[in-house]
Amino acid sequence: MTQIDHEQITEKLRAVIDPELRRSIVELGMVRSIDVKEDGRVDVVVSLTTAGCPIRSHFQQAVAEGVGSIPGVTAVEVGFDVLSDDEKGRLQQALGRGKLPEGALAKVKNVICIASGKGGVGKSTMTANLAAALQAEGHPSGALDCDVYGYSIPRMLGVNDKPEVSAERKIMPLVSPSGVKVMSIGFFVEENAPVVWRGPMLHKAIQQFLEDVAWDDLEYLLLDLPPGTGDVSMTLAQLLPQAKFVIVTTPQPAAQTVASRAAAMAEKVDLEMLGVIENMSGFTAPSGERFTIF
Ligand SMILES: Nc1ncnc2c1ncn2[C@@H]1O[C@H](COP(=O)(O)OP(=O)(O)O)[C@@H](O)[C@H]1O
Ligand SMILES: [Mg+2]
Repeated sequence: MTQIDHEQITEKLRAVIDPELRRSIVELGMVRSIDVKEDGRVDVVVSLTTAGCPIRSHFQQAVAEGVGSIPGVTAVEVGFDVLSDDEKGRLQQALGRGKLPEGALAKVKNVICIASGKGGVGKSTMTANLAAALQAEGHPSGALDCDVYGYSIPRMLGVNDKPEVSAERKIMPLVSPSGVKVMSIGFFVEENAPVVWRGPMLHKAIQQFLEDVAWDDLEYLLLDLPPGTGDVSMTLAQLLPQAKFVIVTTPQPAAQTVASRAAAMAEKVDLEMLGVIENMSGFTAPSGERFTIF
């Protein structure tokens, strides 16, 4: 009997490509198990992203054909199960790696996402002020407004113009009076015009802001995220596995609950949390008395 080893089988499975994700099922971590029987039968279990995965039969056929072509294999049984949430998170990450071309953001030392669960807690205020403060302390900084629906960074940093495109076809960020390099969807749409993009377009826009903008040398690039854990956060987690997260919240329990949800999301996709900023914790009246308003 010919000896069939796992390596041979894995090699064949490398050629089985997920048509949607355009990567090999081996690379995507979707091969759950390989079991070689005495008589040359091989059982392969493939993990799908969803139970009702319409490309099931594609995998079935591709795996059976590939593994079946190995000398000594008498039959191939293809089984399926579903990836756990954690595994899906890792898959998202695997997809993200290398998606931004080599060199994009190469000269940006730190990428920090400013996120929150809820809107109105001061994310944008925090992003703008942190960027300006870092710049003032001598650390070249940039602010990228990823809140495509509720962009407010241009106004907060006092810039609004149409960015120019360089000879190398790079979009030139605007520079705020405080010296911060700024990019926002707000520079490209008419004032007050609604942005009605859906997931894939958002993804494309964010990718372009990271890839095609001439950020050059920056010590800090701060990203103002939209509230919640939606499309944009996931996109960023995919594109920037090196990014770190800061969560902004206010003292209200409701804000804290959603903030911890945002943190759990970051954790799920293996992003490092730098910390939590509690904003609006109180104010000091002219008399010197301090009020904790919430
Ligand atoms: N620490 C603060 N003190 C006073 N006003 C604040 C503070 N933080 C935020 N704000 C105000 O609260 C509102 C919401 O803040 P913003 O940064 O736009 O929130 P987000 O980006 O999270 O939606 C803005 O009008 C902002 O000026
Ligand atoms: Mg905002």
